[in-house]
Amino acid sequence: MSDTINQKHYSGVVAEWYDALIESEENDIKYYQKFAEESKGPVLELACGTGRLLFPYLKEGVQIDGVDVSEEMLEICKKKIDSMGLKSNLYMQDIADLDLPKQYQTIFIAGGSFQLISSFQRALRAMKKIYNHLLPGGKFVVDIFRPLDRDNIIQDGLWVKGREAQNHLGKKIIVYGSNKNNIDEQLIKGLYKYELYDNDRLTDTMIGEIYLRWYGKYEFEMMLEKAGFKNIKMEMNEIITVHGKAFVFTAEKE
Ligand SMILES: C[S@@+](CC[C@H](N)C(=O)[O-])C[C@H]1O[C@@H](n2cnc3c(N)ncnc32)[C@H](O)[C@@H]1O
Repeated sequence: MSDTINQKHYSGVVAEWYDALIESEENDIKYYQKFAEESKGPVLELACGTGRLLFPYLKEGVQIDGVDVSEEMLEICKKKIDSMGLKSNLYMQDIADLDLPKQYQTIFIAGGSFQLISSFQRALRAMKKIYNHLLPGGKFVVDIFRPLDRDNIIQDGLWVKGREAQNHLGKKIIVYGSNKNNIDEQLIKGLYKYELYDNDRLTDTMIGEIYLRWYGKYEFEMMLEKAGFKNIKMEMNEIITVHGKAFVFTAEKE
């Protein structure tokens, strides 16, 4: 049920303003680039959204496909790709039900997006599907943020002003966040308030919500093992996500 809510979130206003709101983020683009460029075979980005990572890699000549569950995010991604006359297969699928016509040398999912698979069972199922879609010797790279760092950004129960963006037509969006943590279930319920302005006049307010699962690093490692992965490595990265420190896992299929 919370997975369905997550999947609906990246549509309408959220999809329309996504790139403008997140355009200053570049650290993760640089970080994952080496995995994409060093890959000795095709690359797959899961939860690729509007192609914030996929598109620049494609422009650099990486053979990369994308998967996302949001039709609208994928449409934006496709427009960018088409505008440059480039080619990439984009699939509208849920990672937990991944069923693609080919296998990949490198599969990655950035920005803590794996945590949007909020049910533990579906997360494990997703890992198994990812494993099945890797070529022998292939690599999976995934980052997950630490909930304590994230809590510093969005305080429990309070609306905290977050990002804002403006376009050349005088339209503006301001995002406020508030979250509620279910410690026992390892779930963050993130509430977002989107205020839309036209030449500084408030025209609309929308509320959206997402559910994010957090993991302990050993728990995540064991899940990867359970899905069949070998040679699992973890590093702490301080800059890769806006949510604070992240654990980055690389795991291989033998
Ligand atoms: C925060 S956006 C990240 C997009 C992109 N990776 C980036 O960093 O800009 C999260 C994306 O995950 C997608 N998503 C959420 N749950 C998903 C699932 N179960 N399967 C595939 N995509 C999913 C959403 O539709 C959305 O495009």
